[in-house]
Amino acid sequence: MSRRLLVTGGAGFIGSNFVHHWCQHYPNDRVVVLDALTYAGNRANLAGLEERENFRFVQGDICDRSLVDRLLQTENIDTITHFAAESHVDRSILGPGAFVQTNVVGTYTLLEAFRQHWQANSQPANYRFLHVSTDEVYGSLGADDPAFSETTPYAPNSPYSASKAGSDHLVRAYYHTYELPTIITNCSNNYGPYQFPEKLIPLMCINTLMGKPLPVYGDGKNVRDWLYVGDHCSALDVVINRGAPGETYNIGGNNEVENINLVQMLCELMDELAPELPVHPAQNLITFVKDRPGHDRRYAINATKIKTQLGWTPSVTVAEGLRLTVKWYLTHHDWWQPLLSEEYQAYYQKNYVFSAS
Ligand code: NAD
Ligand code: TYD
Repeated sequence: MSRRLLVTGGAGFIGSNFVHHWCQHYPNDRVVVLDALTYAGNRANLAGLEERENFRFVQGDICDRSLVDRLLQTENIDTITHFAAESHVDRSILGPGAFVQTNVVGTYTLLEAFRQHWQANSQPANYRFLHVSTDEVYGSLGADDPAFSETTPYAPNSPYSASKAGSDHLVRAYYHTYELPTIITNCSNNYGPYQFPEKLIPLMCINTLMGKPLPVYGDGKNVRDWLYVGDHCSALDVVINRGAPGETYNIGGNNEVENINLVQMLCELMDELAPELPVHPAQNLITFVKDRPGHDRRYAINATKIKTQLGWTPSVTVAEGLRLTVKWYLTHHDWWQPLLSEEYQAYYQKNYVFSAS
């Protein structure tokens, strides 16, 4: 059975990887991308897809109810995959307002529009609203705490994670109140092609190429559970096709790494793969900087449920995924260079304090 998807945030990092995945695996499905093209959205991420007959890109805001209503009706959408969000913790600390607007109000707008569309069409059983969320809603773990499971209580600590938690609660409520067929996924840190240059892994690759300091927050011992973006997309695929409405699925890579170790692994890969680095070995560029306020210490995902119920496991180890990612950034200067804009430089100046340690 073919689907008609509305992919919000489909020009961002994970959204665009998902659209490539979906168009490759389900070439007969209709895919409509709705994206506001904020600083993080980039139409170049969709290169090669825009010529397809059953693909459409629409620039617009998920908070625009009449636009969303129109797209749901005219495109006869049965599946929303909702990626659109303000997604960067550091930016949420500098300016939380946009996070509440897009992540909470935007998700509410989509839910209301989809509810009315679903009801107007006599509540078809195949409709799905997939809400793509984060493990950060669960808060921070101590070194010996068990990994986050689907029943871990929410305890978000940043404006980003609080706004995502708010959106998760709304999605959950629409299932319980209206029986709208929603599903939530909470995923760990992603990395891979098309990730915006201000996030940790692309930032380290690009700064190394430019001979700029590699800023590591605090003592560098914060732990993240890294998942290659292609594995996230394959998990979302099984959730859309086999997940049960009303359920939450945690998605993670079983790849817990301290930030400083991750940066060292990246430096070694850069030394090996990049010709003529301005500073060699690259790890001479590592610079400890002032910590992020409220910096969560550790995230880790228990992905047993999606493994046992839906048969999904990640296929890429962190060593393989980092190698693929470094190679991608080394061969895609033309993709990332234009993104180092004035706006990017202004954000960079505001966010980093290089004098403190
Ligand atoms: P991203 O910042 O790269 O992309 C977000 C996209 O949403 C951009 O294309 C942007 O233009 C678009 N957008 C922002 N506001 C919009 C609005 N009001 N209307 C329409 N479009 C808008 O983010 P990402 O890293 O690809 O994350 C995608 C989703 O996955 C987010 O919901 C995020 O919370 C979640 N997530 C991300 C990670 C991660 O490690 N990056 C991990 C788990 C979950
Ligand atoms: P990030 O990619 O911003 O993801 P998140 O904060 O959502 O997990 O950062 C990943 C980790 O890397 C996080 O612990 C913060 C740290 N970090 C640095 O040490 N330096 C940096 O320049 C950045 C962007 C992040």
